[in-house]
Amino acid sequence: MAGTMWTCSALLMMLAVISKGGHPIGFQPEQMHLSFTGNPRSIMVTWVTTNKTDSIIEYSRFGSKLFGLKAIGSSTIFTDGGVEKRFMYIHRVLIKELDPGAQYVYHCGSTDGWSDMFFFSAMREGSDWSPQLAVFGDMGNENPQSLARLQKETQMGMYDAILHVGDFAYDMDEDNARIGDEFMRQIESIAAYVPYMTCPGNHENAYNFSNYRNRFSMPGNTEGLWYSWNIGPAHIISISTEVYYYTDYGLDLLLKQYEWLKKDLEEASLPENKKQTPWIITIGHRPMYCSNNDTDDCKSFNSRVRTGFNSSSGVMPGLEKLFFIYGVDIEFWAHEHSYERLWPIYDYKVLNGSREFPYVNPKGPVHIITGSAGCRERVDPFVPHARDWSAFRSSDYGYTRLKIQNGSHVYLEQVSDDQSGKVIDSMWLIKENHGVAAWV
Ligand SMILES: [Fe+2]
Repeated sequence: MAGTMWTCSALLMMLAVISKGGHPIGFQPEQMHLSFTGNPRSIMVTWVTTNKTDSIIEYSRFGSKLFGLKAIGSSTIFTDGGVEKRFMYIHRVLIKELDPGAQYVYHCGSTDGWSDMFFFSAMREGSDWSPQLAVFGDMGNENPQSLARLQKETQMGMYDAILHVGDFAYDMDEDNARIGDEFMRQIESIAAYVPYMTCPGNHENAYNFSNYRNRFSMPGNTEGLWYSWNIGPAHIISISTEVYYYTDYGLDLLLKQYEWLKKDLEEASLPENKKQTPWIITIGHRPMYCSNNDTDDCKSFNSRVRTGFNSSSGVMPGLEKLFFIYGVDIEFWAHEHSYERLWPIYDYKVLNGSREFPYVNPKGPVHIITGSAGCRERVDPFVPHARDWSAFRSSDYGYTRLKIQNGSHVYLEQVSDDQSGKVIDSMWLIKENHGVAAWV
């Protein structure tokens, strides 16, 4: 009798595990995504399996013998912090010695199972070309309204890279990280074709940002919290604004990032680097300014990211002054589920190039808030009257297209998904000078 009872309860437990998803056998690669490494001749491929397998990429240039080349990497175990302690193998393979601008086909996996076949273009070398990027934040597993349009446009070859400015999945750790898995599958039809570059947002905070830090593979050694890379004539810096808010994880992170930023900006400002990558563009999740109808920190005059704050360990420095001193050209933010373009600004002063041509030789950085890709929290409305520094606002779902035309011209446009892909805002930013010299 006892034996039968034991068998029954074991069976019930097994059924419970199966119904919850448990740990099925899984050699099949999934959640494929690409990222730039900082070296234009290489690309990183990341994917997930449930079981331990080898980490292999078979690839080839278009037109040559299919899968004639092979790259081998390794995997790490990521254990989610939820009660089920679900774990997965995160595979990373670096493909090196790519021919600049060449197209490649690849699949990933091992002899236990291969992925679908994908393709990508290796980054072009130097600064004499015009990269096109899609920029947005705040895209979730539920209600990712812009996703289909982005998937199609990416596969049509419209973008060289994607910048996702924080807040993924809503939230990656939910349902014991199954929402993270589902979201990474949703973006595969973008991210397996072009590098998907990221920064962390508040929705990644669970278990000290562990899903974010493990699932993505950004350049540098900070697990994607802050890093920089170059594309064509632009130096792109990605930061964590969350070090200003989740201070329980350590104020040393804020100070470390600040010191790193200072060094990175100094280096980017060296004449030889300025010649190659004159544009400095930042992405960070929580904005310094916003005019939404809510109580977010960007509504405060002294928002933490803008001016820093005092703590028991001393003064924590903000970023507006630092970015101004080094002549950052464009600052992309998200967090507010809307789009807002600011006039060139520093310390709440509008610094247009001229009345007629505000974005020709402006005297301060341009801020763009683009957090309306679509998520379960829907969109954020604005306060009724625009501030004097606010140039254009929209609460339509959508995303931003960025074209870095050359060393002096950048084009930006805002796509409304609500209006079937209509461009609802656009601007040219034209600068004869970069760096702090541009402000004089
Ligand atoms: Fe956010």
